[in-house]
Amino acid sequence: MAAKARVSLTAVLAAAAWACLSVVAASAFDVPTVAFEEGFSPLFGDGNLVRSSDDRSVRLLLDRRSGSGFISSDYYLHGFFSASIKLPKDYTAGVVVAFYLSNGDVYEKTHDELDFEFLGSRWGGQWRVQTNVYGNGSTSRGREERYLLPFDPTVEAHSYSILWAPTHIIFYVDDTPIREVIRHPDMGGDFPAKPMAVYATIWDGSAWATDGGKYKVNYKYAPFASDFSELAVVGSRADPVLRVPRRDGAAHQDLLALMTADYAVVTPRKRAAMRAFRARQMTYTVCYDAVRYADGLACQAADILQNNINARVCRESYWHNG
Ligand SMILES: *[C@@H]1O[C@H](CO)[C@@H](O)[C@H](O)[C@H]1NC(C)=O
Repeated sequence: MAAKARVSLTAVLAAAAWACLSVVAASAFDVPTVAFEEGFSPLFGDGNLVRSSDDRSVRLLLDRRSGSGFISSDYYLHGFFSASIKLPKDYTAGVVVAFYLSNGDVYEKTHDELDFEFLGSRWGGQWRVQTNVYGNGSTSRGREERYLLPFDPTVEAHSYSILWAPTHIIFYVDDTPIREVIRHPDMGGDFPAKPMAVYATIWDGSAWATDGGKYKVNYKYAPFASDFSELAVVGSRADPVLRVPRRDGAAHQDLLALMTADYAVVTPRKRAAMRAFRARQMTYTVCYDAVRYADGLACQAADILQNNINARVCRESYWHNG
């Protein structure tokens, strides 16, 4: 689960009003990006959050004193959320960088969450990426998957995006969909359904991030720096408590635009790219984890068909890829 940094709801709600002025397109999709001030506020580790002079990039640092993070000024009910991220170089065991949606600060027991978590490694560049889906506090039924990236994520920035629609969720690395979660009635509350905010954080995950906690953060290599740019938040702003869109009249249009955008549609070409990525890069999926879910498979038949990968390979590699 992503970092549990606490922030008061009033502070969030009082944060700067949104002004969507930017028309600079993010690289993978044709979406408007925003300056930090337009869409975000610092969350913790203030001194370790460094904004560029044009306010379009943010560097998050982790050192002995603190990690750091930021949060969107608004909550959203569905949308497309993207950032270009360049991860810290060299020895990064124990370091966790996260880009995620959550409402854990509003709903302590029944929160929703969609995660990209990047787990550092002893070998520069070999970061693991983990995606996870929680709904209505389903933390005992995490649905995580892990992947190795087909590039070195510390050399240049790549975009990581989350599409959250009422019907499905897609995680993207650049323009490749790497995971699709289709809403199924059996999922019930496990499918995120309450407004969420966008978070980006860097923190010390020594207890678990690398080989199950065997390799800790070594502050001799600090500060660890992660660069965020091309920040995009496209969605219906919503009141997290009332759970309704702030601009009621426009919500329907927002949703229609979202559902018909290219990033919401998995074409046959994109599906083939997703299959290829998963076959080559996925090292773990909860679907086949017979150790944690001794009574059998943790996923529905539909998930398993969709995964279309070799179960044995995933099971075996789990213990070696922390
Ligand atoms: C969410 O969890 C709460 C508390 O466990 C429960 O009362 C509620 O029915 C759940 N909602 C859904 C949509 O499953």
